[in-house]
Amino acid sequence: MKIALKCLIAGAGCVALVGTAFAQAKAERVDFGKREFDSNCASCHGVSGKGSGPVVELLRKSPPDLTLLAKKNGGVFPMARLYEVIDGADVPTHGTRDMPVWGRDYKIKAAEYYMEAPYDSDAYVRARILALLEYINRLQVK
Ligand code: HEC
Repeated sequence: MKIALKCLIAGAGCVALVGTAFAQAKAERVDFGKREFDSNCASCHGVSGKGSGPVVELLRKSPPDLTLLAKKNGGVFPMARLYEVIDGADVPTHGTRDMPVWGRDYKIKAAEYYMEAPYDSDAYVRARILALLEYINRLQVK
């Protein structure tokens, strides 16, 4: 109401003002995939995804450059394969892999978060992995 009234008085200037307010709201929207990546993956893969995270020296194997995944796969982002890599369901528990198993980790997080409330732990894990994949897809170099 206040905005509408001011619009009547200020005319065209108001349109610009409301436009700026919308732009700001958009800029502050949470990027779920990026937040997830920065807090769980960047320590090894680097914030850029290029594999230069701070703990890299401690790993036996250097993390691959995650911005080249599509390029190395004929320009197609290998969604299904990466889902399996991140979920890690097929990885033997005592394997030598330096890449953590996220499916199990997220299941534990879901249990901690929801406690007694009924929830679908598989859906929780899927949502987080898909958000990560959507973000990594955005990091791809053409
Ligand atoms: C402790 C270090 C570490 C963390 C944390 C980590 N990774 Fe990795 N990641 C690696 C290493 C090392 C490899 C290479 C593993 C191999 O080749 O056996 C890898 C491989 C991958 C690959 C496979 C790329 C390919 O072409 O096969 C993807 C995708 C990936 N990581 C995504 C993630 C995501 C998403 C997260 C966060 C949820 C994450 N990683 C967290 C160390 C890490």
